[in-house]
Amino acid sequence: MRRSRQSGLRQLRAHYPNQGAAVNAMDAGAAGAADWRAGAVRLVFAANRADEEMPMFALTDLFSVDGRVALVTGGATGLGRICAEALLSAGARVLIASRKAEACEAAARELSAIGPCEGFGGTVADEAGVAALAAAVRARTERLHILVNNAGISWGAPFATYPWKAWERVMAVNVAGLFALTRDLAPLLFAAASPDRPATVVNLGSVMGTVTQAESAYAYSASKAAVHHLTRILAAEFAPKQVTVNAIAPGPFATAMTRFALGDEAGAARAAHASPMGRLGRPEDIAATVIYLAGRGGAYTSGAIVPVDGAAAAFAPPSLFGQHD
Ligand SMILES: NC(=O)c1ccc[n+]([C@@H]2O[C@H](COP(=O)([O-])OP(=O)(O)OC[C@H]3O[C@@H](n4cnc5c(N)ncnc54)[C@H](OP(=O)(O)O)[C@@H]3O)[C@@H](O)[C@H]2O)c1
Repeated sequence: MRRSRQSGLRQLRAHYPNQGAAVNAMDAGAAGAADWRAGAVRLVFAANRADEEMPMFALTDLFSVDGRVALVTGGATGLGRICAEALLSAGARVLIASRKAEACEAAARELSAIGPCEGFGGTVADEAGVAALAAAVRARTERLHILVNNAGISWGAPFATYPWKAWERVMAVNVAGLFALTRDLAPLLFAAASPDRPATVVNLGSVMGTVTQAESAYAYSASKAAVHHLTRILAAEFAPKQVTVNAIAPGPFATAMTRFALGDEAGAARAAHASPMGRLGRPEDIAATVIYLAGRGGAYTSGAIVPVDGAAAAFAPPSLFGQHD
């Protein structure tokens, strides 16, 4: 046993010259009998792979959503459309829905050049709308592997006159609608989920839900903080059902929602300058994140709020001790 373990270690070191620390950690496991048994199990697993001369990972498999069915709310425009396009490119059948049925149908026709895509009308602004949208999804599929809760609205106004109805509308779409749609589609997600390959919910949060800077969008910022918290709550609740729940928290991306600030060159340049990385978000920043979370490689990631914001949420004030004031 020991002899084969030693030769296995040599073999591993030869196959994975850059994994010295991991291989040495196995070696250290020989110190006690229990450790040794644990080390041996790990070794056999790893050495078998080395014997078969298999690559550790097939990248196409890690990031594939081949054969999966996805719903992207608000998938005809902006970040939702990027998510839809990314999921189609990675092999999924994608349903897109929002209030403007014609825009969804037109977007789906265009996106069908990449893969199977269907667009239809639906709203998450009220309970009846959510029920109808969930029924429209059920009419199209018995299993839903990927739910991207992307639909969202914002409302900016000065603090002193920030209206009650902004809270009602923003919280209804961004929080209650997201929750109710997830609730109503949960049976389809559970039907699609397995320990080998969980189903997944991806919520669109925001850097505004993390930083304490409302930019006059008070209800929006609070709604996105709620999305982040709900993401973690549902991740815990859905884990035994083999459904992962994560949120993407984007920084500024040029879309219809941010047109008021980023719609012209000067505004875009101002926002890029304010960004720690000196730029706005790009489509691939969102596309890669949604593919990671929905692909096989994301199967053990749940309850994460993934910042896609060029370090905006991580940015600290210049000096916590006031030494540079
Ligand atoms: N752009 C950014 O910088 C940024 C940053 C952080 C987070 N986000 C988030 O990313 C998500 C997408 O926003 P975006 O930037 O791509 O802006 P967008 O183009 O305005 O997208 C919003 C989408 O939501 C849909 N929608 C709005 N109300 C709806 C409702 N009641 N029911 C169903 N769909 C509804 C809209 O379609 P209809 O009008 O047809 O309903 C639209 O497709 C939002 O959740 C947003 O908060 C964006």
